Amino acid sequence: MTEYKLKSDDFLVSQTNEKGIILFANDDFCKVAGYSLDELVGKQHNIVRHPDMPKAAFKSLWETVKSGKVWDGYVKNRTKDGGYYWVYATVYPMYDEATKEKTYMSCRRKPSEEEITEAQALYKTLN
Ligand SMILES: Cc1cc2nc3c(=O)[nH]c(=O)nc-3n(C[C@H](O)[C@H](O)[C@H](O)COP(=O)(O)O)c2cc1C
Repeated sequence: MTEYKLKSDDFLVSQTNEKGIILFANDDFCKVAGYSLDELVGKQHNIVRHPDMPKAAFKSLWETVKSGKVWDGYVKNRTKDGGYYWVYATVYPMYDEATKEKTYMSCRRKPSEEEITEAQALYKTLN
């Protein structure tokens, strides 16, 4: 499996509804994941889930953002062609006063090699 290493100015953004359905993804997210925006919108965000990711990481992500707090952590994602990439993600809960809708937004940047090694070791113990 080929690893795509993020560039230092890559900034991958996606937004979901309360059920984890993708509402939006920016160009960097589409480019790195290997999907067009049309292929992503309306799909569950687990479309990019990598099997090495422990369930506990996403349980923590969802519990944190549903309680109105910001979650951050390291995520290994799968690309459309079967490769993978690591990100450091910060996930924000958002509330639209006009529509009364709750959504979530994840902003991802390049993690350092040390951070990837540490996350990999931790996730092995959780799987
Ligand atoms: C804003 C937001 C962004 C997310 N980004 C990712 C992501 O990049 N990769 C991923 O595997 N899961 C992501 N998730 C978590 C997924 O919704 C899902 O919980 C996870 O892929 C595990 O899939 P499963 O619930 O089918 O086991 C995100 C969730 C939210 C709210």
